[in-house]
Amino acid sequence: MRVSLDQAVSLLQQGEVVGVPTETVYGLAAAWQNREAVEKVYALKKRPLNNPLIVHVADVDQIIPYADRLPPSFHRLAEAFWPGPLTMIVPIVSEKIISSVRAGLATVGFRVPSHPLTRELIAKTGPLAMPSANLSGRPSSTAYQHIEEDFGLDFPILDGGSCEAGLESTVLYFCEGEWVIIRLGALSSEDFEVVLGYAPCGMDKAAVPLCPGQLYRHYAPKARLILGKSHPPEDILCVVGFADRMYPGDKKVISWGKSTDAKEVAAHLYETLRLLDRQGIDLAWVDTDFPNDGLWVTIAERLRRAAQGLS
Ligand code: TXA
Ligand code: MG
Repeated sequence: MRVSLDQAVSLLQQGEVVGVPTETVYGLAAAWQNREAVEKVYALKKRPLNNPLIVHVADVDQIIPYADRLPPSFHRLAEAFWPGPLTMIVPIVSEKIISSVRAGLATVGFRVPSHPLTRELIAKTGPLAMPSANLSGRPSSTAYQHIEEDFGLDFPILDGGSCEAGLESTVLYFCEGEWVIIRLGALSSEDFEVVLGYAPCGMDKAAVPLCPGQLYRHYAPKARLILGKSHPPEDILCVVGFADRMYPGDKKVISWGKSTDAKEVAAHLYETLRLLDRQGIDLAWVDTDFPNDGLWVTIAERLRRAAQGLS
């Protein structure tokens, strides 16, 4: 159910949960220091309670009173990428932030979103805790309709159109003297090189996952996905692939954009996965013959996890 900005503000102030657009994916928003509202978010998503939420703020000034310390290069990263699709994990003074939003950890992930509607909303409500607006394990929502699919037609949603990036924010954590990527996202490792002087490595190189949430299965449609780089097997009738490629046989081809345009493919990724379910397709071959750099690295990781299926 579409709500206006003013309705969204008053629902959030009353402790309700609202679907909210961002430039990455839609979020399931709650007033960040309202324990009952935050607990509703976990319950709605069926999200394990040990997987913390990202807090969305208007600017760095809203973070400083809660930070125990700010990691090196924090301000330079903030200047370069905020507002935008970057989340930075910050050690916080724990008693100042309710435990449920941080899943009991002594850190919080903060992000300054750039979507004009999100910014207008946060200006009126204050910081918002927002995980992606999907049932836990399912593909994230990049359009208003996706939230309706997961949470029903009566769920209040601020409609901001299709999300520009279509992939979640990149999550950075400062660990043993350098920044590491603990979740790949809409900013690629190379994007940070100009600011940091190095391209941060991925989570697998960090010693241990920071919270169990990173271990859960994610992004999965009901359809089973077979990832491949050459030709689709004869017995698979549906192909997810590129608009500028030909696929043999008389298969149903669902295109997510051109093989030369990672941004276009990223923007259509979750819609494509959700479309398979909407069309009742239970098995699809996915063309993963694309480069191993930039945004393609995130796309490949999401597909690998989507192909693991729902547990
Ligand atoms: O683009 C995004 O980041 C979207 C939009 C709505 O902003 N939000 C989003 O939230 O993707 P969510 O909850 O679906 O994913 C947040 C990720 C999870 O993998 C979680 O484990 C990790 O960030 N995370 C959050 N706080 C953390 C913390 N304190 N330490 C380690 N990981 C954290
Ligand atoms: Mg998520």
